[in-house]
Amino acid sequence: MDVMPGLENVVAAETRLSDVDGERGRLVIAGADVERMEGGFEEVAAALWSAAGLDGAAMAAKLGPARVEAFSRVPSLGAALDVPDGMEALRGAMGQLRSTGELARDAVDVTAAAAVLAAAWARRRAGQPVLAPDPAAGHADDFLRMASGSVSPARSRALDRYLATVSDHGMNASTFVARVVTSTGSDVVSSVVAAIGALKGPLHGGAPGPVLDMLDAIGTADRAKAWLAAELAAGRRIMGMGHRIYRVRDPRAAVFERALETMAAALPAGATERLALARAVEREATSMLTAKHPERPIAANVEFYTAVLLEAVGLPRALFSPTFAVGRVLGWTAHAAEQARTGRLIRPASRYVGPRPD
Ligand code: ACO
Repeated sequence: MDVMPGLENVVAAETRLSDVDGERGRLVIAGADVERMEGGFEEVAAALWSAAGLDGAAMAAKLGPARVEAFSRVPSLGAALDVPDGMEALRGAMGQLRSTGELARDAVDVTAAAAVLAAAWARRRAGQPVLAPDPAAGHADDFLRMASGSVSPARSRALDRYLATVSDHGMNASTFVARVVTSTGSDVVSSVVAAIGALKGPLHGGAPGPVLDMLDAIGTADRAKAWLAAELAAGRRIMGMGHRIYRVRDPRAAVFERALETMAAALPAGATERLALARAVEREATSMLTAKHPERPIAANVEFYTAVLLEAVGLPRALFSPTFAVGRVLGWTAHAAEQARTGRLIRPASRYVGPRPD
């Protein structure tokens, strides 16, 4: 048996949820091309849950009340939320949720809770009082208000586009983790907590904060080349560049660039310059990485413009990875439902290379 340490090209499931075409740079979510998708968080939630065989529309309609229910738990979560890292806080706080034993209900509860708990963590970290959810508001709008204390239609729309766009992405690492946990017969809360752990890593969902750190360190476009060359010479990776599947630019980068352009008039001071700097750094990084790896195109991934978009909507960079989880929890729960229906335990093999007894 061949050993495939990164499981490249191993197809572990059939799915109706999303399709990543890495050669052409296309992403389909629940039948819609991500670059033309117009629905926001609730619409994509309904579509993904329905595609997974659940009553998606009814479930999406319960998100508002479920946020209220999740918020009632915040006072008892103290220690879990009072840690410096947002993904650690989310993992710990979500881990205290109880499964109802009913997959669809758990899916709504964890989706609502992710937004409420991520926002509560951000407020407490900033030394500000936590804000209660408004069950009548849209999910993105409510998350933005609970997390930042203010909303505007342009910022809410941009965040809604972000959350819908990152909702699912084929068999990415955290989704695979969610499916493995579900395949053992475990509950959706456990699947989501494990998936948060996988998303936390810098090779998966941990890159957008470091992308902003990079843009800060570069400062101006004329310094990009020297800065990137020094990073590469030191053997470090350029955050927000490269992808296991895409051999062209990640289509989600274009969605976020467009969202930024659409909200240009409402952008905070400095955001237009930030976007221009990001574009210049991306151009330089693409050309340097192509020169270094002509055999393997390395282009911008989702996290490059995630950083610019989430900064522009007014979220602190420490909240970027948790915000990714607030969107991706939809995919995790839908994949859990799909996996549960197969009834098949995921259990690959390993090749033993250690000593054997005589
Ligand atoms: N900067 C510099 N070199 C890179 C980068 C990068 N961002 N990405 C890949 N490479 C190089 C590797 O060093 C390697 O070169 P080598 O063979 O000379 O050592 C070669 O390209 C192939 O890299 P792999 O690690 O085999 O590619 P893989 O498919 O595992 O990489 C990954 C995908 C992990 C995302 C990688 O591109 C990376 O580390 N990017 C930076 C971190 C990042 O942006 N993470 C977010 C990913 S998007 C998401 O999950 C939502």
